[in-house]
Amino acid sequence: MRILTGVQPSGQLHWGNYFGAMKPIIDSQDKGETFVFVAQYHALTTVHDAGRLRTATWDVALDFLACGLDPAKACLFRQGDVPEVHELAWLLSVVTPMGLLERCHSYKDKLARGIPASHGLFAYPVLMAADILLYQSDLVPVGRDQKQHVEVTRDIAAKFNQTFGEVFRLPEPLIAEKVAVIPGLDGQKMSKSYNNTIGLFDDPKDVKAKIMRIATDSTPLEAPKDPDTCRVFALYRLFADDAEAEEMRRNYLRGGYGYGHAKKALFEIYQRKMAPFRERRDYLAAHPEEVEATLRAGAERARRAARDTLAAARRAVGLD
Ligand code: ADP
Ligand code: TRP
Repeated sequence: MRILTGVQPSGQLHWGNYFGAMKPIIDSQDKGETFVFVAQYHALTTVHDAGRLRTATWDVALDFLACGLDPAKACLFRQGDVPEVHELAWLLSVVTPMGLLERCHSYKDKLARGIPASHGLFAYPVLMAADILLYQSDLVPVGRDQKQHVEVTRDIAAKFNQTFGEVFRLPEPLIAEKVAVIPGLDGQKMSKSYNNTIGLFDDPKDVKAKIMRIATDSTPLEAPKDPDTCRVFALYRLFADDAEAEEMRRNYLRGGYGYGHAKKALFEIYQRKMAPFRERRDYLAAHPEEVEATLRAGAERARRAARDTLAAARRAVGLD
């Protein structure tokens, strides 16, 4: 089974990104053949600054490798290293009905947010379909906002297969329903747009200060507390194993355990669980040649898979 996902380079990683998107992908490397790429061409629909694109691309690669993506198991590459995707995107675009793209929420949302309408922004789902179909992916882990794009991919693949003969496997979206929305410092969804994030690799002093500022209710220290309505507990549970979470739950219910204690425990578990990731990220940042070699090897592996599919698609349309 092949599992593939693209990640847009979008700056500093926060806890919500890590637990909501990245960890499930990293965990999938033990379940199937995992392909992860940095979606640079997609980012170009909104980022028009070469320096920013380069830095952000590099950061995504470092983050994935630091957090446990193992290049011996999973294939990590830059979208820009596999230009075959554009030829496939064209072959798909000639069977993509305009109406299908006009219905995409993501396009309409971006226009509503003031992003200028460009051909690239409109054609984005066709490029995404090419990303997915080029590698004959079975499963595509994505956030809820991207589910429609995977459905569009299925429609385009079916239309191509019907028109030119069976070439593509139809992928399924995989939405991590189990991972609830990770709350931010203010209790809303943790998101860059709400300014309520805690960075995964922030300076520990800043992380500690942010944790201490999390608002809690005024239940007195001695009184029992409800773990299920407490933001501190919700965040603690992300890092904790079952036994650790159960222990904190009992502390809350027993009383005599204050929010200050819980915050201290949250900071400690974050530090403990993140220490190996931090160490690995520092190492990788100091050894860019290793990261570059990993990305190039990933691109080679990806290109081998890509060339087979592209050859089949070219044959099907009569370009051989
Ligand atoms: P942001 O909301 O900070 O702009 P993005 O939209 O760039 O984050 O999200 C990147 C990925 O991280 C998406 O797959 C999204 O589903 C996931 N993600 C972001 N914030 C959260 C959150 N608070 N809880 C769960 N998943 C999240
Ligand atoms: N559009 C996705 C996002 O914004 C990123 C992406 C590009 C992607 N190509 C993909 C995700 C292919 C899954 C499969 O998050």
